Amino acid sequence: MRVGSHRYKHNNMKQLCIVVLLVSVFGLSLQKSTPQDPHYVAAVVEYNRLSTDVKNNTERYVSLIQDAAQQNADIVVFPELTLTNSQYTFEVPINGLVKEQPVPALYPSGYDEAIVAISKAALDNQIYVVINGREAMDCTLATTRAVEYCPEQKAYIFNTNVVFDRKGAIIDRYRKINLFGEPAHTPALRPDLGKFQTDFGVTFGHFVCFDLMFQVPAVQVVQKEAIKNIIFPTMWFSELPYLTAVQIQEAYAYSLDVNFLGSGANNVRVGSAGSGIYSGKAGALISTMPGLPATRLLVATVPKVPGQITEPFAGPIYDNPTEHDNLKLIVDPSLASHHSKLLVPGYQEITLEDGDVSCTFRVKLSRRNGAEAVHYRAFVRDGTTRADRRDLGVVGCLLSACRTDDVASCPYKFTKNEENPIEELEIKMKTYRNEYNTSQHCNNIQYYPTSFRYNHFPLSSKNFTFTMSSEENCESENEIQDNVSVFQKELISKSKREEISFKLEVPQKELVSFGIFGRIYTRDEDHSLEPMVGESSNELYGFTDY
Ligand SMILES: *[C@@H]1O[C@H](CO)[C@@H](O)[C@H](O)[C@H]1NC(C)=O
Ligand SMILES: *[C@@H]1O[C@H](CO)[C@@H](O)[C@H](O)[C@H]1NC(C)=O
Ligand SMILES: *[C@@H]1O[C@H](CO)[C@@H](O)[C@H](O)[C@H]1NC(C)=O
Ligand SMILES: *[C@@H]1O[C@H](CO)[C@@H](O)[C@H](O)[C@H]1NC(C)=O
Repeated sequence: MRVGSHRYKHNNMKQLCIVVLLVSVFGLSLQKSTPQDPHYVAAVVEYNRLSTDVKNNTERYVSLIQDAAQQNADIVVFPELTLTNSQYTFEVPINGLVKEQPVPALYPSGYDEAIVAISKAALDNQIYVVINGREAMDCTLATTRAVEYCPEQKAYIFNTNVVFDRKGAIIDRYRKINLFGEPAHTPALRPDLGKFQTDFGVTFGHFVCFDLMFQVPAVQVVQKEAIKNIIFPTMWFSELPYLTAVQIQEAYAYSLDVNFLGSGANNVRVGSAGSGIYSGKAGALISTMPGLPATRLLVATVPKVPGQITEPFAGPIYDNPTEHDNLKLIVDPSLASHHSKLLVPGYQEITLEDGDVSCTFRVKLSRRNGAEAVHYRAFVRDGTTRADRRDLGVVGCLLSACRTDDVASCPYKFTKNEENPIEELEIKMKTYRNEYNTSQHCNNIQYYPTSFRYNHFPLSSKNFTFTMSSEENCESENEIQDNVSVFQKELISKSKREEISFKLEVPQKELVSFGIFGRIYTRDEDHSLEPMVGESSNELYGFTDY
């Protein structure tokens, strides 16, 4: 049984008294999920920072924590770098003071003000809280060096998640491993994963923003630690065709088959927006992609087994289309150089190849109605892409809307009166077979089904099917593996191909992009430590005082 304060607001005094009595007899435990419950209640915040003043943001955080608790949330997650500012840091001495005084609210003289206030809000409202901010660690001090890993005697600043339990205690600290245009920050000194347990029987993994793109931590934390629930504070800069915020959050939850709590910083002017709570292959329990400045608290009941939904859920929060265009969307500048072919009205089957990847498109387009209707183009990709001085291994098969028949006009986010309905669409991709990485304990390749509609949300998973041949043939593969030598195994895996099918189940007219995005992590190269030659660092965060 759950008793929510929002419920008794509208009732009469007598009922109010009964509720108050129940709460005082059983305490707040009435509102908490237990290890036996098949689900828990999660909240994520889409947060628009109105001011860079830390006090102001701390107060607004505290009030959002109260709102989340009043809706029975067991845990609430805040975005990346929206509490602190470019001048402000806090300390999280998890190997020092936290061991003796784990609850900053009960030891305010030892901790930073913002940390004390969040701890107090977690304690007062009996809720788990995850925040992110700029963490200072002063390795010039012998006391720090005595308990922390300090490769150099200097003051470090990290981009850090801090987790508080219901008693206000700090229970975990995770430092972002993969920075993105943050010259003031140092990446985690060691690739430590973020992970914590809760009193409702769920273990969470957590990482930050750009980390999502990498084997460590995004794939490793799920597969090595057998974790099914992920927390993701972010300030994501949406990029077409594959990497808009809700699109990639939902695709990650689907591909890794996890529950995913994504909390996004809202700054639409620079292209940052998008939050949601997703449950494995069932997709978004609730999601938002505001085109206007907005702070929103999203709450959902999350099944502990990803995808096994029994409770009603809201799904995407659709905003007025007139508000969409204020959200800046970056476009992958390399798209026009990929192999591609313009699609024609009616039915066609075409195959495109690049490197070792082939994409077969079976597609039926409507007859284009009027000169305004969008064009569609098919793309294939086998290579690497540049992102903030890193080369990332990528493969892809993609269908993209384009404004004209010119490849330079793709992708094109069109509007209702430019629709050109897609009646049938199946993409068959022949590509690299994943190999399990036995030293990292996770996949070397991960494939994501992704889509983007002009309303800024991906397709519901009810409207597509995504199948991989390796997952269907798991058993026969194990049989072979038990018998043959390591050398033979290698030959088999090299000759083996992955076959992926990504197919529409229902005709669609809002599709801007629809494709299989694959990350080949073994191709990744990090150039961020090399000296810069005529190239300026990508300082997106620099725009806005983070
Ligand atoms: C925070 O700052 C904004 C903008 O100045 C203001 O509108 C808001 O009332 C402030 N909130 C708090 C809690 O101080
Ligand atoms: C495992 O992953 C690491 C890091 O991505 C990589 O350097 C290494 O080559 C991989 N090992 C194998 C056997 O694939
Ligand atoms: C599936 O697609 C159809 C056609 O676009 C749409 O009407 C329907 O709402 C979609 N289903 C879900 C669950 O989103
Ligand atoms: C594997 O080995 C067993 C016993 O050594 C044998 O009976 C079986 O046929 C072998 N299977 C394959 C696929 O080689």
